[in-house]
Amino acid sequence: MAIQWFPGHMYSTQKAITERVKDIDVVIELLDARLPGSSANPMLAELTAGRPSVKVLNKQDLADPAQTARWLAHYNALPATRAIGLDASQTTPAQQLVKACHELSPNRGGMAKPMRVLICGIPNVGKSTLINTLTGGRKAKTGDEAGITKLEQRIVLADDFYLWDTPGMLWPRIIVPKSGYNLAASGAVGRNAFDEEEVALELLDYLKVHYAAGVATRFKLVELDTETMAGMKDEDLLDTIGRKRGALLGKGKVNLQKTAEIVMHEFRAGNLGRITLETPEEFAQWLAAGQRADAERAAKKAARSKKGKAKPASDSMPGAVPEDAPADDPQD
Ligand code: G4P
Repeated sequence: MAIQWFPGHMYSTQKAITERVKDIDVVIELLDARLPGSSANPMLAELTAGRPSVKVLNKQDLADPAQTARWLAHYNALPATRAIGLDASQTTPAQQLVKACHELSPNRGGMAKPMRVLICGIPNVGKSTLINTLTGGRKAKTGDEAGITKLEQRIVLADDFYLWDTPGMLWPRIIVPKSGYNLAASGAVGRNAFDEEEVALELLDYLKVHYAAGVATRFKLVELDTETMAGMKDEDLLDTIGRKRGALLGKGKVNLQKTAEIVMHEFRAGNLGRITLETPEEFAQWLAAGQRADAERAAKKAARSKKGKAKPASDSMPGAVPEDAPADDPQD
């Protein structure tokens, strides 16, 4: 899927993180508990490599509890990593976060060696909500203090515990197509940046197999048992939902765009039940396939440019586009 990626402050945030990470003890990364693998920023992993990490699976109230438990176990098994599940209903998440950071960096603490923590996450993952809860709504300090860039906020959680906030950041290119769909379904990507029908079809493709009961109940698809739904074509399921909801154009045709919006809205609001769109194993497979495809693309590109360089200048017409030229770097 080609997502029109609008990374926003990506480059300046990247620079700010690179600078800040030198003086950081622990990195907290907020992930969306419904898509933990897809919402993890691969660029952040590179920028903060070697730092202890707390993975917060946020919005756990919307995610499948059994899958959240598996993801927590997956992350907790990684070196120098602690994982916790959170949601906006928790009024005192600071205790859990502070404890996890002290476990990872036991030598920090006290006024002489305050804990210094960087908090990051993709847009819409719930970072502002969490920080508001942590600070009780106190305004965090921004760039008017020496050593703090305009893009950062420093939050003093305790006299010996500082939290640096960074703007929500995406990354330049998605190599796992399924991650693109899941991010779009979750609301992390602006609505003008993708085809809603395409995203809703991909979403239904997963839901009809794993969460058919929730879909059937919400859309009153009483005639469909779970097996029948799982065997349906995604397009037919979308069409059936559109009819049930009365999203019709003239002559009995379903308004697929409207229906796609309904499906995504119901998913995001949690009305289809508590849903997780990927397991650790599924994500690992998607990632491996994405990396293979990316390596093949890079190899082809390198071969093409080598061939191009080897060609005598007279062979190529100025301005001509070779037949096998790739389209603009796809953002998928
Ligand atoms: P950001 O700073 O990371 O961009 O995210 P922000 O806190 O603004 O949260 C994005 C949306 O996610 C908000 O909803 C917020 O209420 C919701 N949210 C944050 N944390 C949780 C959580 O743990 N569980 C659930 N279910 N939702 C959460 P919104 O629709 O943009 O606004 P509104 O509904 O609050 O008006």
